[in-house]
Order: sequence, then structure tokens, then C-alpha cells
Amino acid sequence: MCGIVGYVGNKKCIPILINGLLKLEYRGYDSAGIATISNNYINIIKCKGRVCNLQNQAEINNLTSTTGIAHTRWATHGIPSKENAHPHMDNLGNFAVVHNGIIENYLELKNFLIDNGYFFYSETDTEVIPNLIHYFYTNDLIDDKMKLLRAVKNTCAKLKGSYALEIISKFNPNTVIAIRKSSPLIIGTNKSEKFIASDIPAILQYTNDFYFLADNEFAVITKNKLDFYDKNLVKQHKNTEKVDINCCSINKSGYKDYMLKEVYEQSTSIQNTFYKFMVDNNISFPYINIDIGSINMIYIVACGTAMHAGLCGKFALESLCNIPTIVDISSEFRYRNPLLNKNSLCIFISQSGETADTIAALELAKSKGATTLAITNVFNSSITRKADYSLYTYSGPEIAVASTKAYTSQITLLVGISIYFSELLANTNTHFLKDEILTLPNKIKQTLQTSSKIKKLAKKLYNKDNIFFLGRGIDYITSMEASLKLKEISYIHSEAFAAGELKHGPIALIDNESYIICTITDSTLIYKVISNIEEVTARGAKTIIITSEELQTSDSEFIIKVPKTNKLLSPILSIIPHQLLAYYIAKEKGLDVDKPRNLAKSVTVE
Ligand code: G6P
Repeated sequence: MCGIVGYVGNKKCIPILINGLLKLEYRGYDSAGIATISNNYINIIKCKGRVCNLQNQAEINNLTSTTGIAHTRWATHGIPSKENAHPHMDNLGNFAVVHNGIIENYLELKNFLIDNGYFFYSETDTEVIPNLIHYFYTNDLIDDKMKLLRAVKNTCAKLKGSYALEIISKFNPNTVIAIRKSSPLIIGTNKSEKFIASDIPAILQYTNDFYFLADNEFAVITKNKLDFYDKNLVKQHKNTEKVDINCCSINKSGYKDYMLKEVYEQSTSIQNTFYKFMVDNNISFPYINIDIGSINMIYIVACGTAMHAGLCGKFALESLCNIPTIVDISSEFRYRNPLLNKNSLCIFISQSGETADTIAALELAKSKGATTLAITNVFNSSITRKADYSLYTYSGPEIAVASTKAYTSQITLLVGISIYFSELLANTNTHFLKDEILTLPNKIKQTLQTSSKIKKLAKKLYNKDNIFFLGRGIDYITSMEASLKLKEISYIHSEAFAAGELKHGPIALIDNESYIICTITDSTLIYKVISNIEEVTARGAKTIIITSEELQTSDSEFIIKVPKTNKLLSPILSIIPHQLLAYYIAKEKGLDVDKPRNLAKSVTVE
């Protein structure tokens, strides 16, 4: 799982490749590397760690080539190291390859190559690819201009799994070959330059004209020419598509980290989101033409934080529309043969729109005749190009790996679409809810004022080994998301429990070293949760309570109050103290909040 960029043109490729890699670091930052070609020689520079380490390599400035490929890695096969960094070459240094995806049958291919005299320098699955290209190239007795492409085609025919590849060869020095299967790859073009990347934003500053490679389609790319071939090497005609989105400048605006900036942006990001569907208290989604009356089951499918937003959405859809709603993890949904038909609506939530399991889940739902709706934050992302309908959260770019503002915007949009469907079904009076949505930006600002109190709490908690989260109903979802935020960026083990389940096992973990953070905003469940708090306090645990300002809870070491709002919207406010707590704990521990270890912003392999 990785990001790849390529360039063929008349400018020095290094600045363009580095710039693209920096924009793709959300896909992984275990190592980075570049291959360029000049004077029939392939030059590779790579290093462990971030793209900035690559920028600091002295030799990089000496490279004047105008053709190159580049890669930022999230390790799957082999540890993060310089040896395992891409690009990888064949044994004789004739071909260089960057790869996003996983070659599932690489061991079989590796053994085949070893039997044929090849040897391997890395532990990656990718290294079989340049060597297979070499194998097919040298065994091809026809010496015509298609020879390299034939070798790539024969190689791909052997690969099982997913891949987006860029290939350069010293035999075709001003050419990049690109191919994809189940991993995204796009090509941007202007008259005398071609740009290749895993996603549009990586190269959007250079062009608005894009080709979207289909599965098993090859592109032969030179500065003035672009040829496309299908899997049998029959030439294809393809049209460019215009992408008219602005390439926003992204900076920290004076905040220490992107995550903190993004937490503070939430009053604006949710407002930007609901302004798109709500005007003068009227909600409409003009491009969504779903016959909601015919839908008898809704599935919400997503990963990580987006899945938690889906769990909040379930409360809204079920209570406002009376349609049973199942929330599933994409990687589970895609392999469990879900019961779908033309009366099913499947909603796929993905901030990036590039998460491999969510894309595969969407393809499955489409193949079973369900209506598909994507909710994403990135225009023209892979998921939006596949779904029947797409809705956007207008959160602006989310850079920190831990998702914050995208989450609260996703919930806002899910409540919005639930109100819209319920109005179509003539189910409920939703005026009160629409009025309440309008108050949220101010209430978020008020909630952010808890920050200084939370900083103090972080100093108390940062050295703990375990922290538990407790909640009931929709507050249980907030606890799950809070627990995910904490473990993602502070590396403290944490778990969220549904308060009523405590007695069925988890309470065995509680002793006088335990810290439990309870979220209580649902007035109908407050007494139940207070009883659960008593039970853990009786066993020595210390509790912290995050609650709504109008509720009277039990005594606790720390009580943090958030403004009162409607239950369906409450996760938007109650998550904010948790986001701040995770942030300040990670800062107390001196950790890199924006790029936590082992994680990537978007998981582009399954
Ligand atoms: C990764 C990120 C999470 C994110 C999840 C889903 O695991 O670290 O923050 O929630 O992917 O990403 P998506 O882009 O599909 O929302």
C-alpha cells in the first residue's frame, strides 16, 4: 500500500516527483524512492522513512533527467528499510518498477525466478516484477517497438493480487509504462508533459486533464504521446476528463500540528457541509435520485473512523426513516456474502475515497444490484467514480492521519440525508432537528473551550498503560471513536465498552489502577450509566465524565461539560473533548501526532 508518481516531459522531473510524493504521504511513509533515467542509465535514490529524508539526499539535486518514477511506501512485505524501499530493479539494472498493491503469489514467482538463476536483494513482493519483465524481455526473440510492452503484459499475466505499476527501462529511455489492477492510477496530460499518480491531488497543480486507467489497461507514456492498450495489447481509444477542482494550499495556519488545526476547524467544516444541502431550513440533495420508498434495508459500509460515523448514521436512519440499517466493516462485508438486492441501499463512507476494502465492498454491492451511495471528502476519488451517487463532506483536506473533522462532517451529512429521506417518506416532523443543525457551529466553538481543562487531564493520564471508555446508546459509539483516537496517536492501549456489557467480562479488568472515561449525553440512559460508574468506582477505578451541560451526573475526578443538543447530533459535540484529550496525551508523550507509527491515512491495500 503506497503512493506512486511519475513524470515524462521537458522539465527536470525531481521537483515534480518529490512534490507529488509529499501529497501522497497519506498512503504511507515507511520509505521513499525515485528512479530516473538519463544516458541509458537508471539512477535510483531511496531511503528509509519520510519523503523529507529523500529531499535531504545530496545526490538528488544532481539529477537532471526529465523522465522518472517515484514511490512512498507503507510496508506490507518486508520491514521499512532502504533495501525494501521502491523502486526495485531487475538483477541487471535494465528495468525499474514502483508498485502500489500486493502480489499474492509472489513466493511462487520468486521460486520460479530463483530456479532460473535470478537472485533477490529485498524481502518485498514487488521485486519479482522487474525480474519477470527481464525474463520475458530476454526470452522474446522479436525485436520491435512493442517488445517492452509485451514483456510487461506477460509479467502482469502471471501476477495475482492488486497492483498499480510504473515501469521504466534503459531500452526505452523516454518512456514510462503504467498499468493497474484493483489499485488506482491516473494520468494527467498537457501538450508536452505527462504526469502519473495514485490520485488526482498529487498532480492537480500541473493539469486539469486526466485519463483514468481501467483495470488491466496499459499506458505507454512519452512526453508527446500517450497510447492505451487493453490486456491483449489491442490499442484503445480513450478521452480525457476535465477535473475542475481547486488545488487548495495546505498549511498549519499557525497550529503546531495538522490534527489540532483540523479539530479547531470543525465549526467551519460542518457548516460548509450542511450549507450544501440545507438552505433556509430546506434540505435537498438534487443529484440523489433514490426511490427511498422501495428500499427495505440500508447497509452502511466503511473502515475505521468512517465506520464509527456510519454507526451514528444508523441511529438517524432508523429513527427518522424506520428502515433497518446494518453497519459493517468493509473488509468483513466484502467476504461475507451480504444479503443484497435491488431494494437494498448501500452507503459507503470514506474520507479519502481510496480505501481498498471499501472500494471492493462497493463493487460487490453493485454486482448484486443494490443502489450505491458514496460519502467522501475527496472529489473524483476512486469511490466516487464507481458509486451510483456521491455526496461530499466539505471538510477541506484532512492531513493528520487521525480523522477528526471528516468524522463530524460525515455524521452531519448522514443526519442530513436521513432527514431528507424521512421527508420523502413523510415520516416525521424534522424542523426541530434542522434548527438544531444550525446551532452546531457555535456549540462546537463552546466545546473547544474545554481545551485548557483537557490539557490538565492529559498531564494526569499520559503515562497510563490502559484507558477504558464507557458509554451507552449513541454515547457508546463516541466511546469507540474516542478509544480509536487515543490508541492511534498516543499508543496507549484502550478499549471501549458498552456500559451494559461491562458485567459480562470487561469488569474483570477493573482495579484501582484503572482509568475510565465515560460519555453521558443521552438523558434517557443517564441513570443506567451512573449505576455502571458506581460499579467500577466500587472496584477502585477512577472515572472521568464527559457529559451534556444540563445533566446531573455522579461525582468524578474530572467532569467535562459539552453543550446540550439533539441526541442524533450529540456525537458531533461529545467527540471533541476526546479528540483534544488524545492529542494532548500524544503531545505529553512527545509523539508525532500527525504521522503516527505504522499507520497511513488511507489504506489502499486489503
Ligand atoms: C485509516 C485511517 C483512519 C481512517 C480509515 C478509513 O485506517 O488511519 O483514520 O478512518 O483509514 O479511511 P477512509 O479514507 O476510508 O475514511
